[in-house]
Amino acid sequence: MYDGMTVPGRNDECWCGSGKKYKKCHIDIDARLQDCYERGLEVPYRSLLKTAADIEGIKRSAAINIGVLDYVAEHIGPGVTTEQIDQWVHDYTVEHGGTPADLNFEGYPKSVCTSVNEEVCHGIPSPDVVLKEGDIVNVDCSTILDGYFSDSSRMFCIGEVDPERERLVRVTKECVQKGLEAIKPWGFLGDIGAAVNAYAQEMGYSVVREFGGHGIGLEFHEDPFVGFVSEPGTGMVLAPGVCFTIEPMVNMGGCEIDMSDPNGWTVRTKDGLPTAQWEVQLVITETGYELLSW
Ligand code: MF3
Ligand code: CO
Repeated sequence: MYDGMTVPGRNDECWCGSGKKYKKCHIDIDARLQDCYERGLEVPYRSLLKTAADIEGIKRSAAINIGVLDYVAEHIGPGVTTEQIDQWVHDYTVEHGGTPADLNFEGYPKSVCTSVNEEVCHGIPSPDVVLKEGDIVNVDCSTILDGYFSDSSRMFCIGEVDPERERLVRVTKECVQKGLEAIKPWGFLGDIGAAVNAYAQEMGYSVVREFGGHGIGLEFHEDPFVGFVSEPGTGMVLAPGVCFTIEPMVNMGGCEIDMSDPNGWTVRTKDGLPTAQWEVQLVITETGYELLSW
């Protein structure tokens, strides 16, 4: 096949480990992938396609990840430090048998990213950052359980937030929804970013280009890179089993970012205006998609 791997006989066991005969399992998907490849399209290697067992594993991991964010939602508020959030995330995750995927990832020092106001992403929790009325903060959580990765993030408005920031937070969530609505099985990855960017622009905002979503499942970051400024009908073919995140970073002002923080991580908007991000994780199915973490 196009990926250099062998194809089982019709009555042999499918390569995906389902235990089913090939003819009752991936045979049609494989034929379609091969056809896409021959038409010059970008197709996922079959090793990227998550099996039913993989999806179950990712869902168990995501149950912790969702639980962590629900816990944060119940406890966050004015006067809470981002260090406390880190402690909650760490303790909740470990108590439920998981490992925070961020901790020690490429040297990252904490269990979660907490990005406040003009921080685009990778804000590092600190006892010095005390959340105050009017702040908007992204809490980006990732969990490993039994080798399976889950990843999602939410925005939180601290106390009363001015209407412009509240609109940014709401519209950014709507951007994720627009991205999801653009998903068609056997459609294109580029359809998603095109929908996100079009909506953000229509609302008067800009989308960060340097960071995007990513494939995820057996590793934290797998192919594909999911850009949120893309052209429809381009990029990877969305075959059933492809698992990735949608996580646009939407700026109130210009799309330019500042990566000069000496901590090596924290990214800010260049113009200092607020920014927001929501992240969901999903898998492509025969009929559309299934959300795995949010
Ligand atoms: N959770 C982020 C993502 O969505 C990755 C954070 S990596 C870290 O991909 F090291 F900064 F934690
Ligand atoms: Co992510």
